[in-house]
Amino acid sequence: MKKVVFFAFVGLSLILVSYKLVLKPVPFYIPKGWPKPMYDFQSNPLSIMKFELGRTLFYDPDLSRDSTISCASCHLQFSGFTHIDHALSHGIDGKIGTRNTPVLINLAWNKHFHWDGGAGDLNQQAINPLTHSKEMDNNLKEILRRLNQSSFYRKRFYEAYGDSLVSTEKLLKSLASFTVSLVSANSKYDQYQRGEVDFEVQEKRGLKLFQRFCSSCHAEPLFTINHFKNNGLAMDPELNDEGRKTITSNQNDLGLFKVPTLRNVEFSFPYMHDGRFKKLRDVVNHYSELPNSKIGFSKELKSIKKPLTDNQQKDIISFLKTLSDKEFLYNPIFMFPKNERSAQEK
Ligand code: HEC
Ligand code: HEC
Repeated sequence: MKKVVFFAFVGLSLILVSYKLVLKPVPFYIPKGWPKPMYDFQSNPLSIMKFELGRTLFYDPDLSRDSTISCASCHLQFSGFTHIDHALSHGIDGKIGTRNTPVLINLAWNKHFHWDGGAGDLNQQAINPLTHSKEMDNNLKEILRRLNQSSFYRKRFYEAYGDSLVSTEKLLKSLASFTVSLVSANSKYDQYQRGEVDFEVQEKRGLKLFQRFCSSCHAEPLFTINHFKNNGLAMDPELNDEGRKTITSNQNDLGLFKVPTLRNVEFSFPYMHDGRFKKLRDVVNHYSELPNSKIGFSKELKSIKKPLTDNQQKDIISFLKTLSDKEFLYNPIFMFPKNERSAQEK
């Protein structure tokens, strides 16, 4: 009899574990026709448990020094995981950073992280915000102490890694499991490409103009070439941000910034590395008013036939709005998790 109970118990546990591990799919997928991701999935094999753990950590303010700021304080889902209303990032004690928070979208296809490429590996990137004095201002020793003290987290780390001891590597890889899974590929643009919907006449004209003038840097389907360029912005004399040169010290890299994706750009205002433009209208106007060439400008800007007429500008903006993916922006699997720690521990 005991044996029967034992095997029934083992069987049931296996079913439960396999439901969590196998049956419930990880949210990451490669959309049809997209290139191979840049992220090395062998370095951090995805599992639903790691994803869920990463998601809980992403929304947990306890990772910051005074338990007030989580990753999601600056990276809000409904704006494509950026911070609207703030040109420059807003962190702990209301401290203002030096750059605009970028969106977190399709990061698996990114090679470089941060506006200047200061982070090259998504598995390491989270160290920066966790320890940055103007962001979460904590130190790894203290974070690990807090996590290891929490029975909630020890259980989650055990489920994800088969070991309840929380280490820096596991912490960072869990966060990466969440951020790498943020795939946005179901906008009207994608549905149009798949032949599921048609574009309005204006959107079609906008797409053509975009392909002529913009896609040399914002290439489909990711809407970035994953590289650094100078798109003709004058340097802000107060911020004095040298862009890529900050990392390479190479004079040729002065004023180059990572080409951002334009997916969900309708909702990710304000724009550019310093958030200088509030509206898409301002952005398109910027490209329209540029001089034909100037020292430092990337050569792709020459293909823009300037100035763009008012109608051309409107057409381009109407196309940019087809890149909005409401399914992504409101997907419950990326939201604040309901498994909350607070319910169990606090
Ligand atoms: C105070 C606001 C703030 C907080 C909190 C914050 N970030 Fe960020 N995040 C930024 C800014 C600003 C950048 C751009 C930094 C730069 O370019 O130097 C950034 C960049 C990133 C990037 C690179 C995106 C890209 O495409 O280049 C990732 C990934 C990221 N953050 C994840 C996180 C995670 C994970 C956390 C929590 C551990 C977090 N962030 C907390 C503001 C914040
Ligand atoms: C030379 C390459 C290049 C070309 C051509 C180009 N862009 Fe950009 N774009 C960039 C770079 C680089 C940035 C980021 C610059 C920065 O923040 O300093 C950017 C930023 C943007 C942003 C802001 C996105 C955000 O999240 O902040 C929008 C919108 C945009 N571009 C739209 C366009 C449109 C529309 C066109 C065509 C009219 C265009 N771009 C042509 C390189 C380019």
